[in-house]
Amino acid sequence: MKGLALVIGSGGIGTQIAEDLSLLENELDVVLCGRKKNFSNFWEFDIEDKFSLENLRNKIYDHPKNLRLVINATGRLHSETLKPEKRLQHLNKENLIESFSINSIAPILLAKTIEEFIPKDISFNFATISARVGSIGDNKTGGWYSYRAAKAAQNQLFKSLSIEWARRFPKAVITLLHPGTVNTNLSKPFQRFVPENKLFSPEKASNFLIDIIKNQKPLDSGSFVAWDGSQIPW
Ligand SMILES: NC(=O)c1ccc[n+]([C@@H]2O[C@H](COP(=O)([O-])OP(=O)(O)OC[C@H]3O[C@@H](n4cnc5c(N)ncnc54)[C@H](OP(=O)(O)O)[C@@H]3O)[C@@H](O)[C@H]2O)c1
Repeated sequence: MKGLALVIGSGGIGTQIAEDLSLLENELDVVLCGRKKNFSNFWEFDIEDKFSLENLRNKIYDHPKNLRLVINATGRLHSETLKPEKRLQHLNKENLIESFSINSIAPILLAKTIEEFIPKDISFNFATISARVGSIGDNKTGGWYSYRAAKAAQNQLFKSLSIEWARRFPKAVITLLHPGTVNTNLSKPFQRFVPENKLFSPEKASNFLIDIIKNQKPLDSGSFVAWDGSQIPW
């Protein structure tokens, strides 16, 4: 891959992907964009802030290389106020709005922001990290209402976008990714339920995800893919 690569979200998975991509792909200029500076080539960025999106647009515009790859690795399962719901009575409007804001609205507005930089005749990849729990078909245990619904909404938004971009940007590929359960802040409170061999290091998850992105072709655009390359039901 050759050109500018933006990894959005300087958390466990995003930072690792930025580090690995810059080692693996000599011709990529990899920039990590987020709220915490975890990587040398870093742009301060808040994906939920419209001024920050505008600022990102200006930085891409000023960058000498063509945009080649965008990976969205932001997301939120819990925060000081947000707790994954175990039952209906835990649900409230504020939690639903917070979860949808970061897990579905922000990623599609990111895609809207970078769209003007997609080359018509050169390969371009946009990957966004979803989660298997966003699968409606695979929902066997319930709970986590707002996170599940927000990731399902992200999936639907990007499925629609993949159909639009296939007409307008035939070389563009959109991939919705499930990274496995990964040892990061996001999963920390829930790791005791995960068998040791099923808890991936960020390094392992990053390797899987980079491999998937590199192997995706335009005809695959709009698929929801797990770390092992398997398709996840919607
Ligand atoms: N870890 C897992 O087991 C797992 C499983 C399935 C899916 N995922 C998905 O994988 C993705 C990456 O998560 P992770 O495991 O790497 O968790 P993480 O370490 O918590 O990283 C998430 C990152 O998103 C950033 N973020 C949140 N709101 C933001 C905003 N408004 N602007 C910019 N950045 C923002 C956070 O920044 P701050 O630190 O500044 O808040 C954090 O760096 C998420 O989409 C998550 O849903 C993870």
